[in-house]
Amino acid sequence: MRAVRGTKDILPREAQLWRLIEEAARSVFPLYGYEEIRTPIIEEMSLFTRSIGETTDIVQKQMFTIADRKGRLICLRPEATAPIVRAYLEHSLHRQGGITKLYYLGPMFRSERPQKGRLRQFHQIGIEAIGSSPYLDGEVISCLVAFFRKLNLRGYQIKLNSLGCLKDKKKLGENLSSILKKDLKLLCEDCQSRFKRNVLRILDCKNENCRRLIHKRFTPNFLCSDCLDHFKDVKESLNLLEIPYQVEPYLVRGLDYYTRTVFEVTHPELGGQDAIGAGGRYDNLISDFGGPEKGAIGFALGVERILLVLSNKLQTTNYKLQTQLGVYIATIGEEAYQRGFLILEQLRKSGVSAQIDYESKSLKSQMRKASNLNAKLVTILGEDELKKGIVTVRDMSTGKQEEIALDNFLNFVRDNLGQDSVSAPRFGLDKLYDEADI
Ligand code: HAM
Repeated sequence: MRAVRGTKDILPREAQLWRLIEEAARSVFPLYGYEEIRTPIIEEMSLFTRSIGETTDIVQKQMFTIADRKGRLICLRPEATAPIVRAYLEHSLHRQGGITKLYYLGPMFRSERPQKGRLRQFHQIGIEAIGSSPYLDGEVISCLVAFFRKLNLRGYQIKLNSLGCLKDKKKLGENLSSILKKDLKLLCEDCQSRFKRNVLRILDCKNENCRRLIHKRFTPNFLCSDCLDHFKDVKESLNLLEIPYQVEPYLVRGLDYYTRTVFEVTHPELGGQDAIGAGGRYDNLISDFGGPEKGAIGFALGVERILLVLSNKLQTTNYKLQTQLGVYIATIGEEAYQRGFLILEQLRKSGVSAQIDYESKSLKSQMRKASNLNAKLVTILGEDELKKGIVTVRDMSTGKQEEIALDNFLNFVRDNLGQDSVSAPRFGLDKLYDEADI
């Protein structure tokens, strides 16, 4: 049996890095006023056809859809923006007034051809800010930058554009169609089909020939004066915060709900699938779903792609993530084992991570196990120790060994482990920030 194509098991070592990324999100986003939201993994299909757009690749080719017993079409969510807008309206979060700020982490599903950095079940971390101000666009991008800073993730590029309002987008599409009509045969097959379905998507075709032709024939400059002002202020807010970006006039993104600001974050180490994240403004989605006239902006980052960049860096810096165990209890003989088993439970009750041997191994191999588990302290308990009412404790980092009265053992452990190792096993993640120059 194998995992389904395009899905991946996250094994314990790698799960440490996942936690590192999730913890960074949970610590950075609230600084910007974001609260966590969790929406279901399944949604009605119409939620996505109405928001992402009937003619987009996601809706046409990539959704996992099933019919429930009554024939209703249900989808595994391909993204989280539309579900969040649905939840926002369903629970009348707009009644709270002001700007609603939400963040999320979780699996998304798209039936794409799997390759490096592209999966069928992948994970996103994202934020959505429901409200309108160009400075909010600046804040959303600075929140992304702060998240990457927390992870020490460097070397990415922010590409920025404005698609304008619905009227501007329509004008852009009409002009593009009329210019490309006569050159259609020169475009790639994908672009020829995009021409019919979703002409704007031709603008960010990756095919070199198409790019050259489009850049030569067409300059997208259809913003109305309000949208121009908005874009100017977005850039100004980023300049104020000294966030580097590159204006990319041909950037469109593959979701129909975008209006005005769109952005993409790429990383050169990712190869073909180089978008580590993307986002933009969707000023009409909330009213299209029957809600108030409220604009919104957000982004989503691909966790697997963040991991590809971080793992590359970990390999080049030779950094090894390590768990740390508080106490390993090594015993000799049946009576000592039973006493050790009891101590094991007492340690855990006091919040100290502890392990014992379950395979009747020799003292030597118990010590080896303690070392493999990166135990801070090892207690050695045998007949002699039991008779004397003591336990021998070895500090594995210094090699120092001393005898401690059994009655005083828990206090000794607390004093010697320090606060960090007392609660739960630690994974050395904080060290990663300091030691690996990610
Ligand atoms: P998106 O551009 O479709 O935007 O996806 C955002 C990110 O998710 C991508 O840049 C990529 O890192 C990751 N991603 C997408 N598809 C896959 C895949 N098959 N395998 C691995 N990673 C993938 C959205 O989803 C919008 N909801 C973003 C947004 C939020 N816009 C406004 N608010």
